[in-house]
Amino acid sequence: ETIDVRSADVSKGEYQDYLEKEIFEQPESIRRAFGNGGRLDRDFGTARLGGIELNGSQIRNIRQAHFIGMGTAMYAGQVGARMMEGLARISSHTLDASELRWSNPIVEDDSVYFALSQSGETLDTLLAVKELQNRGGRVYGIINAVGSTIARACGAGVYIHAGPEVSVASTKAFTGQITSMFLLALSFGRIRHLSPSEGKRLIDALELIPDQINQILAQSAQVQDIARRFKHATSFMYLGRGVSYPIAMEGALKLKELSYLHAEGFSSGNLKHGPLALIDETVPSLFIAPEGDTLDKVISNIQEVKARKGPVITVTNADSRELEELSDALIRVPKCPEILSPLLTIVPLQLFALYLTRELGRNVDQPRNLAKSVTTD
Ligand code: G6P
Repeated sequence: ETIDVRSADVSKGEYQDYLEKEIFEQPESIRRAFGNGGRLDRDFGTARLGGIELNGSQIRNIRQAHFIGMGTAMYAGQVGARMMEGLARISSHTLDASELRWSNPIVEDDSVYFALSQSGETLDTLLAVKELQNRGGRVYGIINAVGSTIARACGAGVYIHAGPEVSVASTKAFTGQITSMFLLALSFGRIRHLSPSEGKRLIDALELIPDQINQILAQSAQVQDIARRFKHATSFMYLGRGVSYPIAMEGALKLKELSYLHAEGFSSGNLKHGPLALIDETVPSLFIAPEGDTLDKVISNIQEVKARKGPVITVTNADSRELEELSDALIRVPKCPEILSPLLTIVPLQLFALYLTRELGRNVDQPRNLAKSVTTD
């Protein structure tokens, strides 16, 4: 018997395209990633992931964590590495799977690897997993498609339960992967460095995220207006620091793959090392500026762009007069600990790419030259 998932639970319903549907599903898909609470242990302020069968002493002995993937999954991995380092104090890195495969990787006993993939079929990621395993590396999958090739190759890991993702550009798989890595980092953190109260505070904050995303989605008309205002630009810069740096990269990827416009992501700190030369009144910069340690630095980067007459669109949850005055457009997201902010700040950037692409009359779900699942290398 075959089940036609396309006609079963994968209809567009009230939405114009799958991309819009999948962006708007994120409150639910993120809830599924934390098991509707079933993966959270509130009493102990930690997470429980049945597929990671490492005991306390093994987790205490991990010295390096590596996150591997391609495209959006790789950018999710960059967020995950920062979460793992921040919460569990394990030195963490993200690797482009296609590079890793050919790099003659050094695999050590105290390292652990996480392979990220929505489809579970990306060939470069699969072959990187096999190369690591050949060298005795421990690789866990963080995968959406149940029973997929990479999930089977890893044999253990975390399913993100985002449900079928049809649109070529990945959205809900990205936030599902980030949620899963947050649970992972929290559970490792609680074994190593985090106090029970810090763990509980983070769980409380995580449980607010789905409703906070609903609040952002309720302001989608504002993002649509901003997309209309900037639809004549042909080149966009995306800038952020810390956990917002991979969000800048992912925001730029969404725009370029959907709209075919030039978009680049940078760390805000790198602005003056090259990208600033591109700034003039025709090149908008999107700054991801959540409340946190580096907000002041991001504000000074915005001033540098404004001094060159560059239009600035800011995504922030900070109450800052300065940011309001400097920004040509400002998108507010709700408050949360900075480490969770990627789950909120990416949403307006997904919407911005969607609406700008519609303005330009391009195919939202099936961008030219791209495939949902890349099974060649
Ligand atoms: C393709 C898709 C991207 C995706 C990447 C990795 O390029 O268009 O959206 O991020 O593959 O796919 P995976 O299925 O491994 O997450």
